[in-house]
Amino acid sequence: MCGIVGYVGGREAAGVILDGLSRLEYRGYDSAGLVVSDLDPSRRAARSAHALQVVKRAGKLAALRAAMAETTFVGGLGLGHTRWATHGRPNDVNAHPHLSEDGRLAVIHNGIIENYVELRERLAAAGHTFLSETDTEVLVHLVEESYAAQAAAGAEPDLARAVREALGHVDGAYALVVAHADHEVLVAARHTSPLVIGLGQGENYLASDVPALLPYTREVIYLLDGDVAELRRDRVRVTGLDGAQRARPVDTVEWDAEAAEKGGYEHYMLKEIYEQPTVLQNTLGGRLARSGTDVELDLGLDPRSVERVVITAAGTAAYAGEVGAALLTRLARLPAHVEVASEFRYGEPVVDERTLCVVVSQSGETIDTLEALREAKRRGARTLAVLNVKGSSISREADDVLYIHAGPEIGVASTKAYTGMLAAFALLAVWFGRARGTLADDEAAALVHGLRELPNQVASALKRRDEVAAVAEAIKGARSALYLGRGVNLPTALEGALKLKEISYVHAEAYPTGEMKHGPIALIDAAMPVVVVATASTLLDKTLSNVQEVRARDGLVVAVADEDDARVAAVAQHVLRVPRTLEALSPIVAVVPLQLLAYEVANRLGRDVDQPRNLAKSVTVE
Ligand code: G6P
Repeated sequence: MCGIVGYVGGREAAGVILDGLSRLEYRGYDSAGLVVSDLDPSRRAARSAHALQVVKRAGKLAALRAAMAETTFVGGLGLGHTRWATHGRPNDVNAHPHLSEDGRLAVIHNGIIENYVELRERLAAAGHTFLSETDTEVLVHLVEESYAAQAAAGAEPDLARAVREALGHVDGAYALVVAHADHEVLVAARHTSPLVIGLGQGENYLASDVPALLPYTREVIYLLDGDVAELRRDRVRVTGLDGAQRARPVDTVEWDAEAAEKGGYEHYMLKEIYEQPTVLQNTLGGRLARSGTDVELDLGLDPRSVERVVITAAGTAAYAGEVGAALLTRLARLPAHVEVASEFRYGEPVVDERTLCVVVSQSGETIDTLEALREAKRRGARTLAVLNVKGSSISREADDVLYIHAGPEIGVASTKAYTGMLAAFALLAVWFGRARGTLADDEAAALVHGLRELPNQVASALKRRDEVAAVAEAIKGARSALYLGRGVNLPTALEGALKLKEISYVHAEAYPTGEMKHGPIALIDAAMPVVVVATASTLLDKTLSNVQEVRARDGLVVAVADEDDARVAAVAQHVLRVPRTLEALSPIVAVVPLQLLAYEVANRLGRDVDQPRNLAKSVTVE
């Protein structure tokens, strides 16, 4: 949420910044801006004012790019921002960077300054003029104040010191970068919102997230809370807010630049949907034991010490958690339930040292999930994170991490991370089931075999895009849709409905199939598609009865059914077929046509599939 990019070095900063922002646009896309400073001493001397060159535009990055085509931005130091508005409407003025009145100091920020109202009042009373409605602008004036105080005291002003002093007044979350026309340095600071430094030869980079850095470097330093970094062409220094030096390790990112490209697909979302067989291979790889009956997980956790499981997450990750809870309950006989992270952290949860709290997150940065993890730890729970992004905040704070190895997910609507998370939960449930003695050898063998088959089965489900497109054509005019599923596939219905809502803006809600008669049945008419998950299950007969109830009321039924099924096809108008697998693993294949259906509908409605309105990936504000 909100993308930050910074650069200092020998290249033209404007190009690097714009390129970086285009790779981070999934974090917010309601406005964007950048600042460039010329480091060349001769050109600097020739400039009448040493002011920074700035451009800001409301709207997507394309608007900024168009505005930049009108001017030449020269200089090797710069910072840029793509915004997801919190305080103040998305317009040119509220877009970042925010500058001091003399145009010499610029700040970009991701997060929320919680005490900005009182800071703004104090600064305005002291004569500072505010131009925007943002909370961020107080940072400009606070840094300016400390900077001016240093100069007034006769000292050569130190920008990093001014930033540290300014942050002493601030409550809230931030990742910020500050530049000053008179200094060849970028000063960055982090508290809660992510920030990563990219190390180059004679140049250095900053970004909210790794994909912005991948074309330039894979050597990175992840900043931690309370860090203040100074980036110059030839060196990077990290201190605490007290100015004391902090040692931070250099990590090498495993992803390559190609992984964050569209790779010939029309949209990132489509590419990521089609990457799912590979993701499943990566999630399962090396974790299925040769014995064929066991799962090997590299966890410090003693499975026998756990008496119950609480899963907490947001959005799609929470639906993955719902499947996880069902599998842990059924296969490992562990009481397990899900609470969305934004509720869990304030809900005075009952957890103790025999509770395993599993947090689930693609980005590892979602603030609600991070705070839920902290709350669980405070209350003494053991914690395990199911994660995609290495080096993320959650990865550093959880006791154990189970990575899904899905590679960068750029599409705002999560797809490949979801199926990766489901595979991780299936592994976890088998692991617990074996350790707790609830899974006999034959059951475990069937599950391990089923897991091995999954990448091919998902690949085969993906070959049926044309069938899904035909259904999309039939339902694209609907104003609302009802999704039904039960047992392990209730979350499949929830996730299918969420995908449709997120990217097509068609209202959709999901219900347990058996609950339809208790309310939603009143909505059914010929205009409302009812999408029902009807893959093989012990309850398929009951689901078929419910489908008949929909048909009796002229409803339009779209059913997800097994390839070899004949019964569902006899009652549903449209069937989306998937390979048959074990019921426990069926959510991993059944969701695939629903992802494609949302994609095909959204595309037909002309929606921006990768950047749906109002949403952002990696939500780092509460
Ligand atoms: C946002 C995104 C969702 C995502 C959720 C959790 O709301 O729009 O697609 O599922 O955050 O993100 P996480 O990175 O924690 O999985």
